[in-house]
Amino acid sequence: MRSLCNRSEKGDDELEKRDADSGDSKPDNDQPKEARYAGNPSATSGPSEESTVYMALWGFRAGDTDELSFEAGDRFLIVKRGGDWWTAGKLDVSGRVLATGVVPHNYLERAESFTTQPWFFGKMNRIECHSHLLTSQNRDGAFLVRFSETDNVGQVLSVKEKNKAKHFKIYHSNNEFYLRKSCQFSSLLELVQHYQTHPLSSLGTLGKPCVRRKPKQQDLSHTTVDKWELPKEDFTLEEKLGSGFFADVYRGLWKNQTNVAIKILKNHDSLNQKNFQLEVEALKKLRHHQLISLFAICTSSTPYYIITEYMEKGNLQDFLRSQEGSTLDTELLTDMAFQVADGMTFLEQSNSIHRDLAARNVLVSEGYLCKVADFGLARFIKEPIYVSNDKKIPYKWTAPEAIQYGRFSNKSDVWSFGILLYEIYSYGATPYPGMNKKEALEETKRGYRMPAPSKCPPRIYQIMQSCWREQPEDRPSFKSLKAQLQECIT
Ligand code: ADE
Repeated sequence: MRSLCNRSEKGDDELEKRDADSGDSKPDNDQPKEARYAGNPSATSGPSEESTVYMALWGFRAGDTDELSFEAGDRFLIVKRGGDWWTAGKLDVSGRVLATGVVPHNYLERAESFTTQPWFFGKMNRIECHSHLLTSQNRDGAFLVRFSETDNVGQVLSVKEKNKAKHFKIYHSNNEFYLRKSCQFSSLLELVQHYQTHPLSSLGTLGKPCVRRKPKQQDLSHTTVDKWELPKEDFTLEEKLGSGFFADVYRGLWKNQTNVAIKILKNHDSLNQKNFQLEVEALKKLRHHQLISLFAICTSSTPYYIITEYMEKGNLQDFLRSQEGSTLDTELLTDMAFQVADGMTFLEQSNSIHRDLAARNVLVSEGYLCKVADFGLARFIKEPIYVSNDKKIPYKWTAPEAIQYGRFSNKSDVWSFGILLYEIYSYGATPYPGMNKKEALEETKRGYRMPAPSKCPPRIYQIMQSCWREQPEDRPSFKSLKAQLQECIT
């Protein structure tokens, strides 16, 4: 079917030539060669599940003897599905099985139709999309097509421009695809090819497909899924990342190949050990894409190690104060605040309290991906209010009823989230400037609340103030905060 769009004077031949000239045909290291421009985007009839060929979108190095190493672009038949690790046969060029082994299934994608296009990213929400598109490897014009997770939005074309993402809904009706009614195409591939040579609103033409960020592994290897205790010898310490009250943190390597963060318990009096074990217990049970994953612990000798996923850009407080962080616009700041609210909503729904939510305890990686860390103080609760005797309280972040009466709850976490919003929109400023921690508490009890940081949008300041309502029950839940922040983004 021909496109309904007026493609000006250029015929299809010229369109193809221009594509080849644009440099897009040069494969990026991270991109599967075979995936580029392969397949017919309008193909519909697929083979049966057993004979469906999958393609690796990233390379993978086996961490164990029965795992299979592979390169981006390798093809597979699936032998056994289930959970995060599947058994697959790797195919040679003639389709024979070369080797069989265990593979992480989220590294693979069905090798059919437009799903194999380098710009097609499948089901993905706006935040994940930003975390891919806004990495430094992508230039302006980098783009991807995704299925929006928001109901009724369908497919979206997302394009990077000036460290922001612009999103265009792709309409699909009567077998035609279009962004504007006046310019329709019979396939998604045609639509994309058109905008690779014709300007898209004020953005110019589409550039290179977005570079795919490797998914973060949920575990070090399939053998460590249920195995929390690992030998210390598997880990090497690289540089020191920070030093806290209970522990020092290092970047390290597992089996000389996988980056991890290693938290080393400082000394071994009973309090610290208790805290250490509580942290492990909390981390083990809490799994969410906006929470730091625990990989393993090493407790067969002292000092104890906690091994977690590594986040390249370090903690949010330092990041906001850095050159890169201090140039972020408020839209991106709201994106980050939303991610923290998302992680905290999960904690709230898991009946868990953080008790030390602050920018220093949020970690950042490529694409402004944020994860809540440090559940050292978290407790699982049966009652909604947990009464604490702990005196090591971060005053400026903690709700008055928690400081005074030890009444920690999800609503005291909400208070801390308000302070965290203040930190975010002031680019990492220390709250209650000019006051010491006792003064901050006294002023707060008298009804004082911090003014809005200069770049803070009025709507965000309203949200911040609602987190600081005197009565805990008058404060919003994290679920509601997440929804309110989502509205600020869209
Ligand atoms: N600092 C503390 N924990 C960290 C982690 N997991 N990744 C990077 N920096 C950290």
